Parts: sequence; C-alpha cells; structure tokens
Amino acid sequence: MSPENTRVAIIGAGPAGLLLSWALRDAGIDSIVVENRSQDYVLARIRAGVLEQSAVETLTRLGLGERIRTEGLEHDGIYLQFRGERHHVDFQELIGRSVTVYGQQEVVKDLIAAHNAAGSTIYYEAADVAVHDLESSAPRVTFTHADEAHEITADFVVGADGFHGVCRASIPREAITLYDRSYPYAWLGILANVAPSTDELIYALHEDGFAMHSMRSPHVSRLYLQVDTADSLDQWPDERIWENLHARLGVPGWTLQEGEITDKSITPMRSFVASRLAYGSLFLAGDAGHIVPPTGAKGLNSAIADVTMLAAALAAHYADDDALLSGYGEAALRRQWRVQQFSQWMTDLLHRNRTDLQTMEFDYQSQLGRLDYVTGSVHAQRELAEQYSGLPF
Ligand code: APR
Ligand code: PHB
Repeated sequence: MSPENTRVAIIGAGPAGLLLSWALRDAGIDSIVVENRSQDYVLARIRAGVLEQSAVETLTRLGLGERIRTEGLEHDGIYLQFRGERHHVDFQELIGRSVTVYGQQEVVKDLIAAHNAAGSTIYYEAADVAVHDLESSAPRVTFTHADEAHEITADFVVGADGFHGVCRASIPREAITLYDRSYPYAWLGILANVAPSTDELIYALHEDGFAMHSMRSPHVSRLYLQVDTADSLDQWPDERIWENLHARLGVPGWTLQEGEITDKSITPMRSFVASRLAYGSLFLAGDAGHIVPPTGAKGLNSAIADVTMLAAALAAHYADDDALLSGYGEAALRRQWRVQQFSQWMTDLLHRNRTDLQTMEFDYQSQLGRLDYVTGSVHAQRELAEQYSGLPF
C-alpha cells in the first residue's frame, strides 16, 4: 500500500479533471488526478468542438491559449437552415460576442502536454477506483495502479469522472435526485478529410431529420445526421451518409464537398442533471453532474464553467473564505439549468420526432413557425446569440 496525501483528489482525467488540476496548480493548491483509462485513450476520444468566449478566456488566463489562438477558428455566428433556405445569425453584430471552433480533443491535448511538462501527478489506468469517508473532512480515494494498492487522503474529492463514474454513485441514494430526459433520436457523426464547405456551422432541420455541418480545421470537416436510436453503423455505409448529408444540407447554388471518412460514431442524446453537485467533502464537475444533448455544444463548456467556479471557490477556501465553496453546488446548478433549457430548446427545435404519428406533422410545421420567428426577430436572435455564445460564469 502506498499512502499519499494531497489537498484535492480529482477522479477523472477528462477536460473537467485535467483543467481543475491545472487551475489549482495555478492557485498554488496541490492535487492528484486518478483516471481509469490510459493517456492514449483519453487523447484519442473525439467529442464536441465549440468553445464559448468565456471558456476561451479561462483557458487563455491559465496559459493554455496559444494553440487556440493560432489554430482555433473564430466564428461570428451560425447558420440556421430550414425549408431549404439558409439564414445567418450574426452573434458579433447582435451582441458583440463570438465562439471558437476548437476540438475538445485539442483542449485535452493541450492540458496533458502542460501537465506532463509541469510533472503533475496523474495516475492513468487506475483500477477499482473508490471514494470513502465523504462525510468527513479527511475523505480517501483507493485504487490499484500497476498492481499496487494506493490510498490518497485529501481535504476534498472532486468527481470529474463523467456520466458513468463512481463519484456521483457514492452519494447515498436518499440524498440525491436524478432528473433526466432521453430523446427518440441519435446523432451519427463523421470526421472527413475535406475542407469545410461552409465558413460557419450549419444547423439544418429537414423533413428527413436534423443535419449539421461543423469542422475541426481548414482541412477537416465534422458532420452529423439525426438517425434512429436503434441504428447501428453497419446500416450507414459512407455512400448512404453522404447521400443524406447532401439531401438535408443542400441549398441551391451550394455544394457539399465529400472526402475520406476517417471516423464514424453514433451517440445517443440525453439531458441529465443531478440534484446536488456537493455532498460532504465531495464536489461534482462536468458530465459527472450533468449531461446535455449535443445541439448547441454545451457539454464541454459546462465542464469548463463548473471548473472555473470550483477552482475559484477552492482558492478562496484556502485563503480562509468559505462562502464560494459552500455555495458552489447551488451556483453551478442554477447556471446548469439555464444551459439545460437552451440545449433542450435547440434540440427540440431542430430534430424530427417521429414517435407520435398523430402529432409529428403538426410538430414539424410548428418547428418551422418557430424558426421563422427566430430568424425574423432581432430579439429572438439576440436571445439565441447570448445563450449560444455563452452565459458568464
Ligand atoms: N475512475 C477514474 N476515472 C474514471 C472513472 C473511474 N471510475 N470513470 C470514468 N472515469 C474517467 C473517464 O475515463 C474520463 O476520462 O473520467 C473521465 C471523464 O471525462 P469526460 O467523460 O470527458 O467528462 P468531463 O471531463 O466532465 O468532460 C465533459 O466531455 O462527454 C463530453 O460532452 C461532454 O464535452 C463534455 C465533456
Ligand atoms: C462539433 O463540432 O462537434 C459540434 C459543433 C456544434 C454542436 C455540436 C457538435 O452543436
């Protein structure tokens, strides 16, 4: 057994855990990160790709902004497409804010490079990770690493271990309520080696379902299609994917360029919020506490918002001011519910719901009415722009 002690034991080396550890280091606070996957696995995971302005500001303030500045693609707005017409919503003109297209994978790469250079303690491939004594002021984390049993004692444990992690599950059942909502469709996402056919992201509602054109770089496109939850990848050969993308994203006078597909995956859509992000000496951050459907790209941004608040609260605690830390759970949840309603709104607005044959055509026409309203009203566009580009932390 190797006993160790740190101020904050962090479970999970996704963007939430890695960023928290980095922000704590910046504030002079020790932490140890425990992750059950390998570093290569963590680096290879492909996920969302839009950073809110506040997220870029946090990363830049912590010295992680260099590649975002040189390789990130700043976008002033998005396109909303319906009835085969494309409408630009210009955030910059509406509210003076923008977003940056920069893959979550790149954020993780920057964080891991920074931690490796600084010599941070991160245990990858930790097995049987468990948290103990959360009601006390000396919580513990136990795990096995390279066949050796480890125990870390800390002042606090942070569950940044994603939706399937162990931390949220360690809160007694009677002390927590889980709110959740699933959607009757999924997203098929591809990465393709082809220059994006658009300057900004296109979100399209089509009779056949939602489609989206995003990007990762000037040479790599990221595209999504609404598919059925029961669909599997073998039902979606490349030709069928491109055919559907052409049909759903097409507008007169514009051509979607095809390229070699290098990655293909199907992701279910879910909204989920835990009723508490704080329990005794445990705090939850990121996907461990909440999940949004990907429309609107709020998952990574919410994780960054939680961590920005939690790092500031822990720094204040060690400077003898507990107000922020005792308010973290509530403040992060209130922010999260505002993000939840936006993600749910954008998802419902842009997908075809075919579960109820009686209402599906009505719902589709009503969605078109809503899209007409949004694209026709400067007030509605400002509301969208403000939420899409990000609420302040
Ligand atoms: N022990 C240790 N680590 C664990 C355990 C466990 N029992 N369970 C899960 N993990 C690790 C996962 O392997 C993963 O690396 O916790 C990490 C959680 O990372 P993410 O799932 O990426 O979650 P988070 O850091 O909160 O980032 C949220 O990720 O899912 C996307 O859309 C989401 O973009 C958002 C972001
Ligand atoms: C992405 O590029 O992966 C992406 C962008 C915007 C979204 C969701 C995903 O709303």
